[in-house]
Amino acid sequence: MTVPTLTLNNGVEIPQLGFGVFQVPPQDTKGVVLEAFEVGYRHIDTAQMYGNEAGVGAALAESGLSRDDVFVTTKLNNGFLEHDAALDAVKRSLDALGTDHVDLLLIHWPLPTVADYVARWRTLEQVYADGGARAIGVSNFQPAHLHRLRDETTVTPAVNQIEVHPYLRNDEARAAGQELGIVTEAWSPIAQGKVLDDPVLLRIAESVGRTPAQVTLRWHVQRGDVVFPKSVTRSRMEENFALFDFELSATDMADIGALDRHERTGPDPDVFDYVPAT
Ligand SMILES: NC(=O)c1ccc[n+]([C@@H]2O[C@H](COP(=O)([O-])OP(=O)(O)OC[C@H]3O[C@@H](n4cnc5c(N)ncnc54)[C@H](OP(=O)(O)O)[C@@H]3O)[C@@H](O)[C@H]2O)c1
Repeated sequence: MTVPTLTLNNGVEIPQLGFGVFQVPPQDTKGVVLEAFEVGYRHIDTAQMYGNEAGVGAALAESGLSRDDVFVTTKLNNGFLEHDAALDAVKRSLDALGTDHVDLLLIHWPLPTVADYVARWRTLEQVYADGGARAIGVSNFQPAHLHRLRDETTVTPAVNQIEVHPYLRNDEARAAGQELGIVTEAWSPIAQGKVLDDPVLLRIAESVGRTPAQVTLRWHVQRGDVVFPKSVTRSRMEENFALFDFELSATDMADIGALDRHERTGPDPDVFDYVPAT
């Protein structure tokens, strides 16, 4: 199965399907990521906040894969609000991952009530200029946050990683990204499993001979977003990888889109203000 790539606004290619490691325990991460590589995933989405970058790095080292064959994303944690602290944190990430650059570095949360995300963006611009990241982007940014970056900074984010699934289409943030040339990455693409019993998804799954998870992930892919479902279960890793040999009709796409309830599984980025001690 060949995973298509999307071209980011700086020319970097990103595999449209990857593997997320949120909530994969640090001690299990190396083994889980090695299994994901065996299944065929070549794009790993981690974060400083997940505490498992070293496990990803160990898997990269043990896999025998060339560094250039794997797209690695990490995210600046919320505690690193000052320039020097953020630069140090990125250095520690690169050490943990065993690489001199990541493919994509994101600001994890905008924290608009706590600190200035524009200042953090300028730090990421520096990492990018210095070669520590092939592309930089943001996560959980609302349209107003993206517009401020456009007005006040130089580099346009390559991606905005936001919560998107059939119960939260998140149209406004996706549209703002589209307007600015920013690719949307859909986190919790199956809403951590909550959408999988939905009668509409069950009906479509039956009609196309696929599972509700595959139908949901295929819906994201056909909308043009990047996805990286997480699973520690080998059979689910394989299931979630098999998305490129079937297609949903326009009617199926519309029926899934109509499930939107504006229902978040995670925090609201406009008010989320969690800053861990560092
Ligand atoms: N930027 C952010 O703020 C942010 C926030 C959240 C997530 N993310 C990223 O997005 C990735 C994915 O999101 P997520 O981990 O929250 O949720 P998700 O991928 O929507 O769902 C993961 C959950 O669904 C289960 N699952 C996976 N595939 C399944 C299948 N085929 N059938 C039934 N159940 C299945 C997994 O169970 P098992 O593991 O037990 O198999 C796990 O409990 C994360 O790993 C992370 O990389 C980013």
